[in-house]
Amino acid sequence: MSSPEGAPRDVLPVHLLQGQKALVTGANSGIGRATAVALGRAGADVVVNYVVGPEEAEKVVEEITAFGVRAAAYQADVSDEEQVVAMMDRMVREFGTIDILVANAGMQRDAAFTEMTLAQWQKVLDVNLTGQFLCAREATKEFLRRGVVPEVSRAAGKIICMSSVHQMIPWTGHVNYAASKGGVQMMMETLAQELAPKKIRVNAIGPGAIKTPINRDAWETATAREDLLRLIPYDRIGDPEDIAYTAVALASDLMDYVVGTTIYVDGGMTLFPGFATGG
Ligand code: BGC
Repeated sequence: MSSPEGAPRDVLPVHLLQGQKALVTGANSGIGRATAVALGRAGADVVVNYVVGPEEAEKVVEEITAFGVRAAAYQADVSDEEQVVAMMDRMVREFGTIDILVANAGMQRDAAFTEMTLAQWQKVLDVNLTGQFLCAREATKEFLRRGVVPEVSRAAGKIICMSSVHQMIPWTGHVNYAASKGGVQMMMETLAQELAPKKIRVNAIGPGAIKTPINRDAWETATAREDLLRLIPYDRIGDPEDIAYTAVALASDLMDYVVGTTIYVDGGMTLFPGFATGG
Protein backbone atom coordinates (compact mmCIF):
# COMPACT_ATOMS: atom_id res chain seq x y z
CA MET A 1 0.00 0.00 0.00
CA SER A 2 2.83 2.44 -0.62
CA SER A 3 1.94 5.96 -1.77
CA PRO A 4 2.26 7.19 -5.34
CA GLU A 5 4.59 9.77 -3.78
CA GLY A 6 7.12 6.98 -3.32
CA ALA A 7 7.72 4.09 -0.95
CA PRO A 8 9.25 4.78 2.45
CA ARG A 9 13.00 4.20 2.57
CA ASP A 10 14.26 1.61 4.99
CA VAL A 11 16.80 3.61 6.96
CA LEU A 12 16.54 1.84 10.30
CA PRO A 13 19.72 1.33 12.32
CA VAL A 14 19.54 -2.43 12.83
CA HIS A 15 21.09 -2.68 16.31
CA LEU A 16 19.29 0.28 17.86
CA LEU A 17 16.99 -1.83 20.03
CA GLN A 18 19.08 -4.96 20.36
CA GLY A 19 18.23 -7.01 23.45
CA GLN A 20 14.95 -5.18 24.08
CA LYS A 21 11.55 -6.87 24.29
CA ALA A 22 8.60 -5.06 22.78
CA LEU A 23 4.86 -5.62 22.86
CA VAL A 24 2.74 -4.01 20.16
CA THR A 25 -1.03 -4.23 20.54
CA GLY A 26 -3.21 -4.47 17.46
CA ALA A 27 -0.14 -5.51 15.51
CA ASN A 28 -1.78 -7.66 12.85
CA SER A 29 -2.60 -4.72 10.58
CA GLY A 30 -2.02 -1.07 9.77
CA ILE A 31 0.16 1.08 12.01
CA GLY A 32 0.58 -1.71 14.58
CA ARG A 33 1.85 -4.12 11.99
CA ALA A 34 4.39 -1.67 10.53
CA THR A 35 5.55 -0.75 14.04
CA ALA A 36 6.04 -4.37 15.10
CA VAL A 37 8.05 -5.05 11.94
CA ALA A 38 10.17 -1.91 12.36
CA LEU A 39 10.94 -2.72 16.01
CA GLY A 40 12.08 -6.18 14.90
CA ARG A 41 14.16 -4.68 12.10
CA ALA A 42 15.81 -2.46 14.71
CA GLY A 43 16.80 -5.53 16.74
CA ALA A 44 14.03 -5.96 19.31
CA ASP A 45 12.20 -9.20 20.08
CA VAL A 46 8.53 -8.56 19.49
CA VAL A 47 5.19 -9.82 20.76
CA VAL A 48 2.53 -9.27 18.10
CA ASN A 49 -0.81 -8.84 19.87
CA TYR A 50 -4.07 -9.25 17.96
CA VAL A 51 -7.70 -9.86 18.82
CA VAL A 52 -9.01 -11.26 15.53
CA GLY A 53 -7.07 -12.45 12.49
CA PRO A 54 -4.50 -15.05 13.63
CA GLU A 55 -3.26 -15.62 10.06
CA GLU A 56 -2.27 -11.96 9.63
CA ALA A 57 -0.58 -12.00 13.03
CA GLU A 58 1.40 -15.11 12.08
CA LYS A 59 2.51 -13.41 8.86
CA VAL A 60 3.80 -10.47 10.87
CA VAL A 61 5.66 -12.89 13.14
CA GLU A 62 7.30 -14.53 10.11
CA GLU A 63 8.32 -11.16 8.71
CA ILE A 64 9.92 -10.22 12.02
CA THR A 65 11.72 -13.51 12.68
CA ALA A 66 13.34 -13.18 9.24
CA PHE A 67 15.45 -10.38 10.80
CA GLY A 68 16.96 -12.96 13.19
CA VAL A 69 15.05 -11.80 16.29
CA ARG A 70 12.29 -13.54 18.25
CA ALA A 71 8.61 -12.90 17.70
CA ALA A 72 5.32 -14.50 18.73
CA ALA A 73 1.64 -13.77 18.20
CA TYR A 74 -0.49 -13.46 21.35
CA GLN A 75 -4.25 -13.20 21.15
CA ALA A 76 -5.85 -10.88 23.71
CA ASP A 77 -8.62 -8.30 23.81
CA VAL A 78 -6.92 -5.23 25.31
CA SER A 79 -10.19 -4.05 26.88
CA ASP A 80 -10.45 -7.23 28.96
CA GLU A 81 -8.50 -7.03 32.22
CA GLU A 82 -7.98 -10.78 32.66
CA GLN A 83 -6.75 -11.21 29.12
CA VAL A 84 -4.29 -8.33 29.43
CA VAL A 85 -2.92 -9.67 32.72
CA ALA A 86 -2.55 -13.13 31.16
CA MET A 87 -0.82 -11.69 28.08
CA MET A 88 1.73 -9.82 30.17
CA ASP A 89 2.38 -12.88 32.39
CA ARG A 90 2.97 -14.96 29.29
CA MET A 91 5.34 -12.39 27.80
CA VAL A 92 7.42 -12.28 30.98
CA ARG A 93 7.46 -16.10 31.11
CA GLU A 94 8.38 -16.59 27.45
CA PHE A 95 10.45 -13.47 26.66
CA GLY A 96 11.85 -12.75 30.14
CA THR A 97 10.57 -9.19 30.48
CA ILE A 98 9.16 -6.19 28.60
CA ASP A 99 11.11 -3.01 27.75
CA ILE A 100 8.79 -1.33 25.24
CA LEU A 101 5.00 -1.17 25.11
CA VAL A 102 3.36 0.31 22.03
CA ALA A 103 -0.29 0.67 23.08
CA ASN A 104 -1.62 0.84 19.57
CA ALA A 105 -4.85 -1.16 19.35
CA GLY A 106 -7.66 1.17 18.39
CA MET A 107 -10.86 1.40 16.40
CA GLN A 108 -13.51 3.72 15.00
CA ARG A 109 -17.30 3.27 15.22
CA ASP A 110 -18.46 6.46 13.50
CA ALA A 111 -21.93 7.99 13.73
CA ALA A 112 -23.60 11.39 13.80
CA PHE A 113 -24.01 12.42 17.44
CA THR A 114 -27.74 11.79 17.85
CA GLU A 115 -27.44 8.48 15.99
CA MET A 116 -24.58 7.21 18.11
CA THR A 117 -25.55 4.29 20.31
CA LEU A 118 -24.23 3.80 23.81
CA ALA A 119 -22.68 0.55 22.56
CA GLN A 120 -20.69 2.46 19.88
CA TRP A 121 -19.58 5.04 22.42
CA GLN A 122 -18.61 2.43 25.00
CA LYS A 123 -16.79 0.07 22.65
CA VAL A 124 -14.48 2.79 21.34
CA LEU A 125 -13.74 4.08 24.85
CA ASP A 126 -13.14 0.51 26.08
CA VAL A 127 -10.63 -0.36 23.37
CA ASN A 128 -8.94 2.99 22.69
CA LEU A 129 -8.67 4.31 26.26
CA THR A 130 -9.28 1.53 28.80
CA GLY A 131 -7.22 -0.85 26.65
CA GLN A 132 -4.21 1.49 26.84
CA PHE A 133 -4.75 1.95 30.59
CA LEU A 134 -4.72 -1.80 31.23
CA CYS A 135 -1.70 -2.55 29.04
CA ALA A 136 0.26 0.39 30.45
CA ARG A 137 -0.54 -0.65 34.03
CA GLU A 138 0.57 -4.24 33.55
CA ALA A 139 3.73 -3.26 31.66
CA THR A 140 4.60 -0.72 34.36
CA LYS A 141 4.44 -3.39 37.07
CA GLU A 142 7.13 -5.34 35.21
CA PHE A 143 9.25 -2.21 34.54
CA LEU A 144 9.19 -1.44 38.27
CA ARG A 145 9.98 -5.02 39.27
CA ARG A 146 12.99 -5.17 36.94
CA GLY A 147 14.30 -1.59 37.08
CA VAL A 148 16.97 -0.15 34.81
CA VAL A 149 19.37 -2.55 33.09
CA PRO A 150 22.02 -0.14 31.75
CA GLU A 151 23.31 -2.54 29.08
CA VAL A 152 19.82 -2.61 27.57
CA SER A 153 18.51 0.95 27.96
CA ARG A 154 18.86 4.07 30.10
CA ALA A 155 15.16 3.78 30.98
CA ALA A 156 13.41 1.10 32.99
CA GLY A 157 10.71 1.03 30.36
CA LYS A 158 9.13 2.95 27.54
CA ILE A 159 5.41 3.31 26.87
CA ILE A 160 4.22 4.72 23.56
CA CYS A 161 0.52 5.53 23.42
CA MET A 162 -0.88 5.62 19.91
CA SER A 163 -3.05 8.69 19.93
CA SER A 164 -4.20 10.79 16.96
CA VAL A 165 -4.32 14.33 15.65
CA HIS A 166 -7.87 14.06 17.03
CA GLN A 167 -6.59 14.42 20.58
CA MET A 168 -6.52 18.12 19.56
CA ILE A 169 -8.62 18.44 16.37
CA PRO A 170 -12.36 18.09 17.05
CA TRP A 171 -14.02 15.70 14.59
CA THR A 172 -17.69 15.84 13.61
CA GLY A 173 -19.30 12.41 13.44
CA HIS A 174 -16.58 10.82 15.56
CA VAL A 175 -17.28 12.02 19.09
CA ASN A 176 -16.45 8.65 20.65
CA TYR A 177 -13.10 8.44 18.86
CA ALA A 178 -12.08 12.07 19.50
CA ALA A 179 -13.06 11.76 23.18
CA SER A 180 -11.03 8.55 23.50
CA LYS A 181 -7.93 10.22 22.04
CA GLY A 182 -8.37 13.34 24.18
CA GLY A 183 -8.43 10.90 27.10
CA VAL A 184 -5.28 9.19 25.85
CA GLN A 185 -3.44 12.51 25.88
CA MET A 186 -4.24 13.30 29.51
CA MET A 187 -3.68 9.70 30.58
CA MET A 188 -0.28 9.72 28.87
CA GLU A 189 0.77 13.05 30.43
CA THR A 190 -0.37 12.00 33.89
CA LEU A 191 1.43 8.68 33.66
CA ALA A 192 4.53 10.43 32.34
CA GLN A 193 4.54 12.72 35.36
CA GLU A 194 3.88 9.86 37.78
CA LEU A 195 6.41 7.41 36.34
CA ALA A 196 9.31 9.62 35.22
CA PRO A 197 10.97 9.44 38.69
CA LYS A 198 10.99 5.65 38.25
CA LYS A 199 12.83 6.09 34.93
CA ILE A 200 9.83 5.04 32.87
CA ARG A 201 9.26 7.20 29.80
CA VAL A 202 5.67 7.64 28.64
CA ASN A 203 4.99 9.45 25.37
CA ALA A 204 2.47 9.47 22.54
CA ILE A 205 2.46 9.60 18.79
CA GLY A 206 -0.34 11.55 17.11
CA PRO A 207 -0.71 10.16 13.60
CA GLY A 208 -2.57 12.15 10.97
CA ALA A 209 -4.09 10.46 7.93
CA ILE A 210 -2.11 7.28 7.48
CA LYS A 211 -3.10 4.90 4.72
CA THR A 212 -4.54 1.90 6.63
CA PRO A 213 -7.81 -0.04 6.65
CA ILE A 214 -9.27 2.24 9.39
CA ASN A 215 -9.69 5.18 6.98
CA ARG A 216 -10.01 3.42 3.62
CA ASP A 217 -13.00 5.64 2.73
CA ALA A 218 -10.82 8.73 3.02
CA TRP A 219 -8.20 7.68 0.46
CA GLU A 220 -9.70 5.02 -1.77
CA THR A 221 -11.39 7.21 -4.38
CA ALA A 222 -9.82 10.13 -6.26
CA THR A 223 -12.35 12.63 -4.86
CA ALA A 224 -11.89 11.47 -1.27
CA ARG A 225 -8.13 11.63 -1.71
CA GLU A 226 -8.31 15.17 -3.08
CA ASP A 227 -10.46 16.28 -0.11
CA LEU A 228 -8.07 14.64 2.30
CA LEU A 229 -4.96 16.19 0.74
CA ARG A 230 -6.47 19.65 1.28
CA LEU A 231 -6.00 18.96 5.00
CA ILE A 232 -2.34 17.96 4.66
CA PRO A 233 0.17 20.77 3.92
CA TYR A 234 2.92 18.24 3.09
CA ASP A 235 0.64 16.97 0.31
CA ARG A 236 0.91 13.26 0.79
CA ILE A 237 -1.03 10.68 2.75
CA GLY A 238 1.09 9.00 5.40
CA ASP A 239 2.50 5.50 5.19
CA PRO A 240 2.37 3.18 8.23
CA GLU A 241 6.19 3.32 8.21
CA ASP A 242 6.06 7.06 8.94
CA ILE A 243 4.60 6.13 12.32
CA ALA A 244 6.65 2.96 12.76
CA TYR A 245 10.00 4.76 12.36
CA THR A 246 8.93 7.43 14.83
CA ALA A 247 8.00 4.71 17.31
CA VAL A 248 11.41 3.06 16.91
CA ALA A 249 13.22 6.35 17.56
CA LEU A 250 10.98 7.23 20.50
CA ALA A 251 11.48 3.81 22.08
CA SER A 252 15.25 4.05 21.72
CA ASP A 253 17.82 5.82 23.88
CA LEU A 254 18.19 8.38 21.05
CA MET A 255 15.13 9.96 22.65
CA ASP A 256 15.92 9.17 26.31
CA TYR A 257 15.15 12.74 27.40
CA VAL A 258 11.75 12.85 25.70
CA VAL A 259 9.15 12.44 28.45
CA GLY A 260 5.42 13.17 28.34
CA THR A 261 5.37 14.49 24.79
CA THR A 262 3.06 13.85 21.86
CA ILE A 263 4.90 13.74 18.57
CA TYR A 264 2.46 14.59 15.79
CA VAL A 265 3.34 12.68 12.64
CA ASP A 266 0.80 14.19 10.31
CA GLY A 267 2.34 16.05 7.34
CA GLY A 268 1.25 19.28 9.03
CA MET A 269 -2.42 18.40 9.56
CA THR A 270 -2.34 20.05 13.01
CA LEU A 271 -1.13 23.36 11.49
CA PHE A 272 -4.70 24.57 10.75
CA PRO A 273 -4.19 24.31 6.94
CA GLY A 274 -7.47 26.19 6.32
CA PHE A 275 -5.61 29.33 7.42
CA ALA A 276 -3.10 29.06 4.57
CA THR A 277 -5.66 30.88 2.46
CA GLY A 278 -8.25 32.13 4.96
CA GLY A 279 -8.50 33.92 8.28
C1 BGC B 1 -8.21 8.38 12.15
C2 BGC B 1 -8.28 8.35 10.63
C3 BGC B 1 -8.19 9.76 10.07
C4 BGC B 1 -7.02 10.54 10.67
C5 BGC B 1 -6.99 12.00 10.24
C6 BGC B 1 -6.96 9.13 12.55
O1 BGC B 1 -6.80 9.12 13.94
O2 BGC B 1 -8.20 7.05 12.66
O3 BGC B 1 -9.50 7.76 10.23
O4 BGC B 1 -8.03 9.71 8.67
O5 BGC B 1 -7.06 10.47 12.07
O6 BGC B 1 -8.24 12.62 10.34
